[in-house]
Amino acid sequence: MKKYLVVGNPIEHSLSPKIQNYWLNLNNIDAIYGKLLAYDDDLKELCNSIKNGQLDGLNITVPFKKKIIPHLDVLNGHALRTQSVNTVCLNNGNLTGYNTDIDGFELSIKKLDYDVSDKKIVILGAGGVVPSIIYALKRMNAQQIYLSNRTKDKAQMLKNLFEGIEVIDWGALPDFDMIINATSLGLKENDKFGIDFSISGNNKLFFDVIYNPFNTDFSEAGNKSGNIIQNGLSMFLFQAQKAFSIWHNIEPEINKEVIKYLES
Ligand code: ATR
Repeated sequence: MKKYLVVGNPIEHSLSPKIQNYWLNLNNIDAIYGKLLAYDDDLKELCNSIKNGQLDGLNITVPFKKKIIPHLDVLNGHALRTQSVNTVCLNNGNLTGYNTDIDGFELSIKKLDYDVSDKKIVILGAGGVVPSIIYALKRMNAQQIYLSNRTKDKAQMLKNLFEGIEVIDWGALPDFDMIINATSLGLKENDKFGIDFSISGNNKLFFDVIYNPFNTDFSEAGNKSGNIIQNGLSMFLFQAQKAFSIWHNIEPEINKEVIKYLES
């Protein structure tokens, strides 16, 4: 039986085991997928476990998407460009890091039928998933990307990786069409932003990368002032679908039953 794990810290909120085991059963694949609360020191051993055949693949989540890289042999194109890895397995004997967050984000925006090409977009956060979001937005020709992070230095570092983004102060809100919560604020039920989003008017798109819980302080604020809100569930599903096809060579279906199952 093949074995897969999602590793992160925190990890309790992750729905990856639920969706991956669902698709494994549906496709009659003899494998199991679990979750592991990990620490920096565990990454090397986890990678060795894949090399010696005890494990077959990993999903990597917060805060290890960058930290995993020194333990890998090869990065595929997207992972190399963003320096962010969320999927790992052996490929021709090489421990390879992939990035399926880019496709996950892009497909979720396309599913919304939202055209970013003439839009001004604010990204809140500068953690592991943000390079993938910037990369996808640039690929879709976003007009303007503003980056705002509590620790400004981290936003400045991303500016060095991608041309043409503007770093703004934490809490500052320029005129925008879409705002993305890519921080971890909202994972815990009582997390509050302390930013008054209502001053930005209405009819904007509030996109929260968080999918569990389904609603956060950010999405509730967006909803209250008459904006469109979207949580991270479809981004999560699309990145999971891509990871599944890397490991098993099958593209599993995303349909109403899958979504209902995840929400149950
Ligand atoms: P990492 O920063 O290690 O890559 P992450 O979970 O991917 O981890 O990123 C967490 C993001 O949420 C960061 O942008 C973080 O801001 P800092 O860089 O200033 O730490 C942001 N974040 C977490 N808690 C926050 C809080 N209470 N207020 C504002 N931003 C917060």
